[in-house]
Amino acid sequence: MMRSEPRAVQLNEHGQLKHFLTLDGLDKTLLTEILDRAESFLSMGEQSVKKVPLLRGKTVVNLFFENSTRTRTTFELAAKRLSADVINLNIETSATSKGESLLDTLKNLEAMQSDMFIVRHSDSGSAHFIAEHCTPNIAIINAGDGRHAHPTQAMLDMLTIRRHKGGFEGLKVAIVGDILHSRVARSQLQALTTLGVSEVRLVGPKTLVPSFFAEMGATICHDLEAGLKDVDVIVMLRLQKERMKGALLPSESEFYRLYGLTVETLAWAKPDAIVMHPGPINRGVEISSEVADGKQSVILDQVTNGIAVRMAVMSMAMSGQLQSADSSAAGEEK
Ligand code: NCD
Repeated sequence: MMRSEPRAVQLNEHGQLKHFLTLDGLDKTLLTEILDRAESFLSMGEQSVKKVPLLRGKTVVNLFFENSTRTRTTFELAAKRLSADVINLNIETSATSKGESLLDTLKNLEAMQSDMFIVRHSDSGSAHFIAEHCTPNIAIINAGDGRHAHPTQAMLDMLTIRRHKGGFEGLKVAIVGDILHSRVARSQLQALTTLGVSEVRLVGPKTLVPSFFAEMGATICHDLEAGLKDVDVIVMLRLQKERMKGALLPSESEFYRLYGLTVETLAWAKPDAIVMHPGPINRGVEISSEVADGKQSVILDQVTNGIAVRMAVMSMAMSGQLQSADSSAAGEEK
């Protein structure tokens, strides 16, 4: 099947978001708009009444074909803070259920007059597939598809960096660990490059950091000391064993010895470097407890920022859908 360009699928005729599938093709202005809008929702989270009516009367369906705690919960909270009605569907994936059964599920949800689907699926490209097959007025938000993209995670990471570092210019960022299987790393690399950091280093063993990432603008490092030297931001990633086929690592203890972030290895970065992790963290595999709970760690800020970023993206996509519908109605009247 021919796929449309992501840009054509996720933006309406005015260049506004109507789906949020990937950061590929989104420019700096749009990414900055998401961050600015999220910032305004963050201050709202500190007030005693945390709701705004931007999605009142809308139905949001959390459609998770793959497990998740943090992402699903923060999407649910975000939708509720926007006053939407939220339904959670946790669908166990069977090996081949993408084609017909996925479309059947969607048709049923469409018949329930849903307005937005938040989709997580183990197949790369599934959010895009759904956006192309649903009725056009349902906004699709990608909550992680295979190893392809996790755009809201990358944007909450950008908000966390901007809040701690004041901006992106001149920053050196190291992303460490299992890059090969990581949708988070792919989306982060796109966001960081678009927002104009000075360097993104991908750090890990050759089996988990393939050289083709250099074509996407990253510096490849197989040595942790060289990778962490003078960086402002460190992003640690989990070994995503559920996506590994065959032996890519000698052992977890060997990985920790070579690539683990400990008090000693953290000292290679700038003294004020921040430590990030999308979670779930595996203590003693990629990060020590001392560092994960230490004063340079901003891992829990990432979770808080996730609610605000998801509110921003959901409200922007909903308004992009409405503008799109208005324009086609006006076109028909002419
Ligand atoms: C990540 C994911 O699911 O891609 N986690 C998350 O969304 N918080 C990273 C991971 O699973 O390791």
